[in-house]
Amino acid sequence: MDGSFYITTPIYYVNDVPHIGHAYTTCAADVLARFHRMKGERVLFSTGTDEHGQKIARAAQDAGLTPQELVDRVVLRFQDLWKRMHISHDVFIRTTDPEHERTVQSFFLLLKEKGYIYKGEYEGWYCVPCETFWTEAQLEGRLVCPDCGRPLERLREESYFFALSKFTEPLLRYLDEHPDFVMPESRFNEIYSFVKGGLKDQSISRLGVRWGIPVPGDPDHTIYVWFDALINHLTVVGFGRDRELFETFWPSAHHLVGKDILRFHAVLWPSMLLAAGLPLPRRVFAHGWWTVEGEKMSKSKGNVVDPLEVIARFGVDRFRYFLMREVSFGLDGDFSERAFVERSNADLSDNFGNLIHRTLNMVWKYRSGRVAKPSRYEDREWEELLQEVRERFFAFMDRFAFSQALGEVWRLVHFGNRYLDQRAPWRMAKDPGLGEELDRVLYRLLDCGRILGVFVFPFMPETATRLLQYLGVEEILEDCNPLALCDWGKGPSVFSVAQPEPLFPRLQG
Ligand code: MSP
Repeated sequence: MDGSFYITTPIYYVNDVPHIGHAYTTCAADVLARFHRMKGERVLFSTGTDEHGQKIARAAQDAGLTPQELVDRVVLRFQDLWKRMHISHDVFIRTTDPEHERTVQSFFLLLKEKGYIYKGEYEGWYCVPCETFWTEAQLEGRLVCPDCGRPLERLREESYFFALSKFTEPLLRYLDEHPDFVMPESRFNEIYSFVKGGLKDQSISRLGVRWGIPVPGDPDHTIYVWFDALINHLTVVGFGRDRELFETFWPSAHHLVGKDILRFHAVLWPSMLLAAGLPLPRRVFAHGWWTVEGEKMSKSKGNVVDPLEVIARFGVDRFRYFLMREVSFGLDGDFSERAFVERSNADLSDNFGNLIHRTLNMVWKYRSGRVAKPSRYEDREWEELLQEVRERFFAFMDRFAFSQALGEVWRLVHFGNRYLDQRAPWRMAKDPGLGEELDRVLYRLLDCGRILGVFVFPFMPETATRLLQYLGVEEILEDCNPLALCDWGKGPSVFSVAQPEPLFPRLQG
């Protein structure tokens, strides 16, 4: 249905505390959720935790806790981080929620009834950290996980299988018809050739792993964690329990995932949905990975970036901005303190913050904080630029090209700073004959600040709110479609502004 937008993050394993990789996807999903709400759409934004499986059970054992105790403890770390990052999710799903467990079991039964699940024997290798099955053929003689490089465990056990191989052709057809189902394009191509190579049936239960959802009618087996986890995307939209919710949001589902877990979302998941006779999500977008100071992030190297530390040192909006601006969404990137400080100072302090601060200071200095909408305040150059920026901003946001979308907004910032320098209000203020022109210049700059506040809101909600409060127009955020108000002439009849504090004081490098 048009006018609805359902956005999901992966649900995160709770064997470990959150790091920058988790923060990244969740921040991107939040930006999208906020952007679509600002377009007046109905939005459902979900995130959560993946709490079953052998990996979690072992982590609990190592910590001397029961799995339930461990997950109840670690889930708080995630929930706390999302609060501090101003994440605006509507739903936080845990795979241990009884509602989810019921949904998984009924989905399992549905596929079984349709003849896509059968019992057999699995013989092969298993990577516990990745919770992934591997066949000998995939390993090419090396007994380590092709994804993470860690040692594998040998498995030979009775298992339920999902007839994934039946979906090679249907999935290829779907990909042919929906070239933007998987994004970016390079990932689409990767998935396409993987499917073309032929899909193999997938083991979807484990014997002897107690920490999981029992297979209905055969409780010695528990359901494979990925099968369980993927279904969260249906639980959230009320599959099997709330038809209206489901019909409103399911057709507009967008999944954000890291590149390492793309296959699960772009091969296994759509096949499960095809088997159930359900429509597929609109888009699966795979983003890249962050290295830290040029190195792979790992616990053993001790270089894992803790988002809470970054926020405590630099503030939440600098962090959100850096994540979304530094790297083109889809590519890998590097997190370094130097890059962080440089980008923050250049973009946020020297350009964005400075434009706002100079404008507000002049409004106080020359107009005691008030500027009424002047007659003939239109300006061709501003109008043309804004129109172009807006069109391109929307187009980039539609493709989840956050960095490029921000680049567009910053064209307005640069233009504003240049305009200020060129029109030099401080000179106009000395000439009483130019009073009206001074009002026009100041009003345009204030209106530019208002429009900037709306554009940056999805990325930096706290800063944008502060900016709009300084300008006395924060009620724009209550509007059902603030983005439609990003136009000249939609500003207030009088700007009555607050005494400003710098939005982004420069950081010491
Ligand atoms: N539980 C599964 C997802 C199930 S979704 C139905 C899972 N959980 S996870 O906790 O391991 O989450 C990993 C997410 O964090 C993945 O999207 C992964 O790509 C991302 N990242 C982990 N390290 C990362 C970086 N260094 N950089 C960016 N993202 C990274 O997988």
